[in-house]
Amino acid sequence: MKLLVILALVALTGASAWPNFMSDEPDGVPAHQKQHDVNYAFYKIFEPLRDNNLAEKAVSFNPLGDVSMYKDGGVAVRHLMDEFTNGRLLEKKHWAVATNKRHLEEAIMLFEVFMQCRDWNCVASNGAYFRERVNEEEFIYAAYHAIKHSPLTQHVVLPAMYEVKPHHFTKTQVIEEAYEAKEMKLRNIIFQNNFTGTPNDIEQRVAYYREDVGVGTHHLMIHLENPFWWKDTYGYHIDRKGENFFYAYHQLLNRYEAERISNYLPPLQELKLDEPLKEGFTPQTTYKFGPPFPVRNDDIHLHDVDRIGRIHEVVHMEDRIHDAIAHGYVEDEQGNKINIDNDHGIDILGDIIQSSMYSPNRKYYGNLTTLAYTLLDHQTDPKNKYDTPPGVLAHLETLPRDPAAWRLHKRIDNIFREHIDTLPPYTKE
Ligand SMILES: *[C@@H]1O[C@H](CO)[C@@H](O)[C@H](O)[C@H]1NC(C)=O
Ligand SMILES: *[C@@H]1O[C@H](CO)[C@@H](O)[C@H](O)[C@H]1NC(C)=O
Repeated sequence: MKLLVILALVALTGASAWPNFMSDEPDGVPAHQKQHDVNYAFYKIFEPLRDNNLAEKAVSFNPLGDVSMYKDGGVAVRHLMDEFTNGRLLEKKHWAVATNKRHLEEAIMLFEVFMQCRDWNCVASNGAYFRERVNEEEFIYAAYHAIKHSPLTQHVVLPAMYEVKPHHFTKTQVIEEAYEAKEMKLRNIIFQNNFTGTPNDIEQRVAYYREDVGVGTHHLMIHLENPFWWKDTYGYHIDRKGENFFYAYHQLLNRYEAERISNYLPPLQELKLDEPLKEGFTPQTTYKFGPPFPVRNDDIHLHDVDRIGRIHEVVHMEDRIHDAIAHGYVEDEQGNKINIDNDHGIDILGDIIQSSMYSPNRKYYGNLTTLAYTLLDHQTDPKNKYDTPPGVLAHLETLPRDPAAWRLHKRIDNIFREHIDTLPPYTKE
């Protein structure tokens, strides 16, 4: 009998696994071909393509040549090409960040082109074409999100971000040493990549966690899977996106607290907007093209940021969210009440706080997390006097390095906690 059950199980799993393995892809192109193209698309991203097939496509392909390859008949690609041919896109060899409205807009335009492709040839050709023409950072952002979400790339593994952009994860000094070693054809060199800061800073005791390559990558994945700008017209509904946003950060914070306790550090304090920000940060990393990541000194006062927003706007948004939690309902744009005093409430609250397109009322509850990220990452040059690029908070893979990012998320987590505390405790079952 047991054997029969096992056989049946094997047959079952076999039946479901085989199609994935053999003719797995909806468009018939084998997954290994896609993986090959993806690997080469990101290989030495700041240099020209090294794969002959892709390099050929980059030269000969015309994105507008045959618009029947797009599900939308070419609407998205026409939009992008219009911006491109009129020279309105950000140039290559320039820093780009997702907290810059225009940079994000351009990256999403390219993302939409990928998502409209009916088959792999369309994705690979557009990928090759635009890789050689749009800003590299924007290309990475768009292509990573598309690969994560397109039905054509469900079996493609994304290259590790620390291999695509090692300069975001490694001290400038180490990168320099690596170039030198390459220049001099030295082999088997071991580089020491220390954490930023010194033991004179007590926060340094948990730098190993904040600056961990895995934590940075994990943080990137949280956002890749749940982009705040996601719309269901891209293909499907992301289940419990808002709740995931809460849950993922809650887990990260709990672990951070545990690491702090183990290192005799006080518990994490939430970010106070009207008190000096105690923790400074020296990233010691450099943009590939552009100046180093800016240094933030200790004890700065948080400033309003020109053309981005005022610190007080964050407080207004929070007040409205606190009100909603106290009432037990949120109001959508038509003024209808949506009850949040239930299992589903945390999901709605998460959408609102994440600044998600899923938010039932973006006009009223605003874009708390994106605004807070953007205000914080500009604190080193809030009046844009010195043309400095944004800090590590502007990049998903480097955000956890900054102690201030954790304090901000603690503040956000406390809002969720206020909601959770209104719910009845779990019963025995
Ligand atoms: C890293 O730290 C060690 C020990 O403190 C030191 O000897 C070494 O020079 C440092 N390396 C770098 C790249 O900062
Ligand atoms: C937040 O939303 C407002 C209103 O939609 C918008 O003007 C502003 O640019 C947004 N800020 C950020 C940082 O996304």
